[in-house]
Amino acid sequence: MPLRIDKKGTEESSQNEKAKSRLVLRVCLVILFLAILHIGSEQTGLKGFRGNALFPASTSSALVWKSSSSSSSSSSQQKEVILDLVDDEQEYIKWLVEEREKVSNVTEIKTPIKVLYRAMAGLGHQLLRLSSAYHLLTIYQIPLIWPTANPVCGGTIFTIYEHLIGKGPLFVDLPYLKEKNSYHMEIIALPLRFPKLEFVNETELSEEERQELVRGINLNNEIPGYSHAVGDVWDMDLPRFQEMDFYNKFQTDYQMYHQLMLLFEHKHRTKINEIHEKTRFSSHTVFALHIRTGNGETGDFEKKSRGIKNLEQWTETVIELLCDYRERNSPLFDKKPLMIFVGTDTGSIVPKLQNISSTLCQIPIVSADQAYPEEGKSVSFLQKYDNDEKCLQGWENMFMDMYFFTKANTVVTGSYSSFTQAAPMSFVMHRAKKNGMLNDNSHPHLFCELNRYGNRMDCFQDFENWLRRNAVKYFGNMSSPEQRIRQELPFPNWRIKSISINKLFAKTLLREPADSKKPSSSSTNRMTFQEWMALNEIATTNNTKNNMKKKKNA
Ligand SMILES: *[C@@H]1O[C@H](CO)[C@@H](O)[C@H](O)[C@H]1NC(C)=O
Ligand SMILES: *[C@@H]1O[C@H](CO)[C@@H](O)[C@H](O)[C@H]1NC(C)=O
Ligand SMILES: *[C@@H]1O[C@H](CO)[C@@H](O)[C@H](O)[C@H]1NC(C)=O
Ligand SMILES: *[C@@H]1O[C@H](CO)[C@@H](O)[C@H](O)[C@H]1NC(C)=O
Ligand SMILES: *[C@@H]1O[C@H](CO)[C@@H](O)[C@H](O)[C@H]1NC(C)=O
Repeated sequence: MPLRIDKKGTEESSQNEKAKSRLVLRVCLVILFLAILHIGSEQTGLKGFRGNALFPASTSSALVWKSSSSSSSSSSQQKEVILDLVDDEQEYIKWLVEEREKVSNVTEIKTPIKVLYRAMAGLGHQLLRLSSAYHLLTIYQIPLIWPTANPVCGGTIFTIYEHLIGKGPLFVDLPYLKEKNSYHMEIIALPLRFPKLEFVNETELSEEERQELVRGINLNNEIPGYSHAVGDVWDMDLPRFQEMDFYNKFQTDYQMYHQLMLLFEHKHRTKINEIHEKTRFSSHTVFALHIRTGNGETGDFEKKSRGIKNLEQWTETVIELLCDYRERNSPLFDKKPLMIFVGTDTGSIVPKLQNISSTLCQIPIVSADQAYPEEGKSVSFLQKYDNDEKCLQGWENMFMDMYFFTKANTVVTGSYSSFTQAAPMSFVMHRAKKNGMLNDNSHPHLFCELNRYGNRMDCFQDFENWLRRNAVKYFGNMSSPEQRIRQELPFPNWRIKSISINKLFAKTLLREPADSKKPSSSSTNRMTFQEWMALNEIATTNNTKNNMKKKKNA
């Protein structure tokens, strides 16, 4: 995804310059703050090969966990812990299924705009972009989205998603969730360069405009205005995103993934129950381990060099690491022993892992026991299946893995992949909000990354620290390099040269209100970022000064 930074001296970029210089100051402060924190964490001494116990056996684990999480820079700890979206998931599923039947039954378009999202490439890639589309629709208040895919499994554009989650759209607006419905959550301001748009009354359009009116939008692959984090540029924008609470992106993501998983569960319940029972999933502390080797795949995969070079060596080192981890954190696995659920594109790796584990420390290793393709043929969107049934089965298997990843205690990613950064990460970070409250000796929820030698694991419990590469826990050989993972999680990204959201909605009922140039005073929900900055300039400057005083006094 090419990102260009506008270096031209346009009016806009000179505004950006001002914003940037303010930001640089803030970034410096944050770096200073993090540096202080870092010195603090250095004292725990993690040099050389030394398994670092999460919790020393001598102390109560809950206590240690609480004190360690309060020293993290996250502000989310202070916020009230958000309980799950619904009390009764089965009742919610029932509601979802019934409502979907109603809306997909209607042939005539009832909503002013019908949005179809056409997904491409692998499952992780698809869902991460679908999450952007979902977020865009909460911003502009479009209540439904129809996920589609290219007809790779024969059939129509709807075939894959109908097979996975049944017929019908996803709900962007979920009245069932009441005050937890992210569709109605206030956003502090629109992302920078996102236009302010409002629905107009159709009767007020001219005859000509009415004839040109567009009611259907096809979003293909990338979503205008959205992109993942990119190195230094991202670092500079991060404070701004924090200030904006990430435009509620984490909330809308979770709302979408949670819905997707429940719809999948509803449709594939028998198979899910079978796997649950066979693996004795719920009587274990499950670490979901994702291993993507590429399995003979070339092209995009090879370019990003995501494959693991020496698989044999790597798997052995990883099992050693996990054996050691379990040993040093044994009180946390007393009630529910550790089990590893493997999600992979290379089926043959599962018996290899099992074999190593049985010689080293007997951690049970399970998988969804899928019909993996033959060795050397990857589970990939590029794969040619000889029939549509098998093709759909391939997608179902990938989704099944993802489903069980969302049920795991901790997600461990073996190499860079958008798979783990979609639903699994959203779920584990959501659960991790409760880590500070765990007082039953259970293992905290973590998102962990193994490095390419398999001898070091860096773990995160919130998005902000993950984006900053500021791990809350590490384990293994700290002289070994950490995983240089690509952060694929998308956000509104004002540095994309062409935002083109205006173009996307051109000729629909969503239009720029006539008075959009004036700063809005009433509806903060639809204020643009520039307006918000203008209103907050004084307050922001004061805060910065105060923070600086605090730092000096400290
Ligand atoms: C609409 O859904 C109902 C069930 O709620 C079903 O009985 C009916 O046949 C559907 N109508 C169409 C046109 O599919
Ligand atoms: C649109 O405007 C017409 C006439 O001005 C009015 O009757 C109608 O209720 C309006 N529709 C909505 C959805 O506001
Ligand atoms: C398990 O490992 C042993 C020793 O490394 C090897 O001899 C045996 O063939 C392996 N078994 C399987 C099923 O891979
Ligand atoms: C730890 O990692 C470093 C760097 O990869 C390596 O040189 C060293 O041998 C490792 N130590 C152990 C005990 O494996
Ligand atoms: C900012 O600080 C100045 C003086 O330091 C003060 O006069 C002003 O009222 C403050 N503004 C706000 C919004 O707090």
